[in-house]
Amino acid sequence: MSKVAIFASGSGSNAENIVNHLKGRLKSSDFHFFTNKPDAYVNERARKLNIQLTLFSKNEFYNSDKILKILINGNFDLIVLAGFLWLMPLNIVQAFNGRIINIHPALLPKYGGKGMYGKRVHEAVVANNEIESGITIHFVDENYDEGKVIKQEHCAVLPSDTAEDVERKIHDLEFKHFPKVVEELLWPR
Ligand code: GAR
Repeated sequence: MSKVAIFASGSGSNAENIVNHLKGRLKSSDFHFFTNKPDAYVNERARKLNIQLTLFSKNEFYNSDKILKILINGNFDLIVLAGFLWLMPLNIVQAFNGRIINIHPALLPKYGGKGMYGKRVHEAVVANNEIESGITIHFVDENYDEGKVIKQEHCAVLPSDTAEDVERKIHDLEFKHFPKVVEELLWPR
């Protein structure tokens, strides 16, 4: 049996896609969602999927052991950041070293770091006339977007592409590859 913690600050479409992909191997009680945003759509998805959700404040995250304790007591095998926008605190990074992964919607080290998330990344890619972009799935350390890369997948960016076009291509790559990486980490072949 495996248990998966998923952190998300936004829509949570990747979180839901991972749950759906692992449906045959895990139950909804094997997942736990975490969010810092009470109004984000991931809250609704948790309800719909019957997955436990913990909402936390910045103070609880950085100045208490609340989330660390839930993660340790829950015996989570893997922590997945799926559109989670806060830096993981050191206490969690150290306790789960090598068991936290993040997805970033660009080819790191390009377009990474604090403030580079979601649509901002695709707007910068288009503004710089890049001919390709992609996704990076990587282990998480104490810095933004710097841990060891697990997988990168590329897509072409055409001169006519808008940020929304790039976002769609990235979304497709994320949907295709992220759940497989999660599965491979949980049950290595
Ligand atoms: C995803 O594109 C993910 O790569 C990005 O946020 C989106 C979340 O979408 N993450 C970052 O930008 C992290 N720096 P979702 O909420 O629909 O899964």
